[in-house]
Amino acid sequence: MPRISYVNGQYLPLSQATVNVEDRGYQLADGVYEVIAIFNGLLVDKVDHLRRLARSLNELRISLPVNISALNFIMNETIRKNRVVNGKLYLQITRGVAPRDHAFPANCKSSIVVTVSNVSWPSRDESKQGCCVITAADIRWKRVDIKSVSLLPNVLAKQEAIDASADETWLVNEEGYITEGTASNAWIVTQNNQLVTRQTDENILAGITRKTILKLVQEEGIEIVERPFTVIEAQSAKEAFFTSSTALIKPVTSIDNVSIGNGNSGLMTCALIDKYFEFMENLTENS
Ligand code: PDD
Repeated sequence: MPRISYVNGQYLPLSQATVNVEDRGYQLADGVYEVIAIFNGLLVDKVDHLRRLARSLNELRISLPVNISALNFIMNETIRKNRVVNGKLYLQITRGVAPRDHAFPANCKSSIVVTVSNVSWPSRDESKQGCCVITAADIRWKRVDIKSVSLLPNVLAKQEAIDASADETWLVNEEGYITEGTASNAWIVTQNNQLVTRQTDENILAGITRKTILKLVQEEGIEIVERPFTVIEAQSAKEAFFTSSTALIKPVTSIDNVSIGNGNSGLMTCALIDKYFEFMENLTENS
């Protein structure tokens, strides 16, 4: 069965799903996106993802080419046509097609693409396996709170991780603070069991997984501090992990080859993984 994608009003096999070469997303990275996990047939935190999409669009003065109920229909229909039960959905909206010019074109209809693919989500035990992180300079622009398709610094930094046989790169700003990962949010657990993650501002993407975990953690009575932390602090932390819609919660057992804690996945991290799986297993249509 060929994969079906939605492109500007049509459901097409991936091989026929094309965009115009003058699409501003292609020529100028003038667009935004969302990645949403599909778990047991349901979109995880769909409402929050669509809210963040609306914010990104608003910041860039791009309008949604369809209304929200049509968008919901398109997402569900793309999932249904591909018979995806566990997977991820990619949604991209660009300013549209116009002769190349930096300025916004007049009367340009935005473009929309939705694709879905299968993912075999890890089991709880597989999720609890630790991974390695390296660090690199955060050379991104100053509005990374907008989920823009302009991801070249993230691409280069992720490749650095792969080249170093690591799983993710944590980005470090000019003051020496870790901002976030190339495609994830960064967390540590301090020696006195505080859960620390950087506050959301223009220097990080406000992760939806991050938001959900903060909500789940509040129910546990764990002390949460939203503040920046340095590489040295992270390396001397009791635990570290990163989160995203596709990585879920991933324990970090080394940062730049320095072991974290006792070198194993942390206890609080593993407890959060259990909690997050419970959350996903109890999703409902409107969550
Ligand atoms: N990325 N920070 C960055 C830079 C990201 O690209 C992502 C997600 C996150 C985590 O956000 P969320 O929890 O909402 O997935 C943080 C997606 C998965 C991607 O680009 O593929």
